[in-house]
Amino acid sequence: MRIGILGSGLMGGKLGTIFARAGHEVVFSYAQSEQKLKRLAREANGKAQHGTPREAAQGADALLLAVHWSRIEDVLNQTGDLSGKVVVTCSLPMNDDDSELVVAHTSSGAEELARMIPKARVVSAFNTVPSEVLFGVYEARSKSRRPSLVYCGDDKGSKAVAAELIRDVGFDPLDAGPLRIARYTEPFALLIGQLAYEGEEGPELAYRFEWFK
Ligand SMILES: NC(=O)c1ccc[n+]([C@@H]2O[C@H](COP(=O)([O-])OP(=O)(O)OC[C@H]3O[C@@H](n4cnc5c(N)ncnc54)[C@H](OP(=O)(O)O)[C@@H]3O)[C@@H](O)[C@H]2O)c1
Repeated sequence: MRIGILGSGLMGGKLGTIFARAGHEVVFSYAQSEQKLKRLAREANGKAQHGTPREAAQGADALLLAVHWSRIEDVLNQTGDLSGKVVVTCSLPMNDDDSELVVAHTSSGAEELARMIPKARVVSAFNTVPSEVLFGVYEARSKSRRPSLVYCGDDKGSKAVAAELIRDVGFDPLDAGPLRIARYTEPFALLIGQLAYEGEEGPELAYRFEWFK
């Protein structure tokens, strides 16, 4: 797949690197310096390049949106038309100091995003794990008990694309249902953040759901 990364920070930089190592074509975009995007592309050791958000979106089979909530509008203004595009968002609708969700209960960041780009096919994924665990999960991908990763969306095809990417990173994708379920997964992401950053075990944390039938 060709994957455009919109926001090449902790999440976008690491996920883009993993996608490239897993064999995808990746275009890193949207950082505060072009040098950083160049370095990410070089160090990904795969078919990775850097470009503008518009270049990342052009011809992309999927886009990963990984910017702070306050930057969403800015990056979307730079991508050009996203009609029909699969947009996988890990962005959480946080306030400026990242202490609270600014959208919750009756909507979610993912639903608000889908309203901003109504012709795109939005999937919410990767927001329920800290960036610090991503390389560890990728390294452990051949083990049989993979950690779960919940995702949700309203479009079957784009969810299949997201599930493939989730699997490529080393998680066991768990379809949580339609996009409105992001109202539950986004606060859950804050629980994971609490355990990762305020707990004693460190941030290399993933989770696994199991059914005992
Ligand atoms: N970090 C996590 O563990 C985690 C986990 C779950 C969900 N999330 C969510 O994922 C999203 C991304 O988080 P993150 O931690 O990856 O954020 P981050 O490290 O701050 O990355 C954001 C990216 O946006 C770029 N950026 C910021 N302002 C810019 C500007 N004015 N012009 C151009 N580029 C700009 C940053 O550039 P620079 O690289 O140059 O700074 C960076 O590449 C957020 O919505 C967050 O809530 C994060």
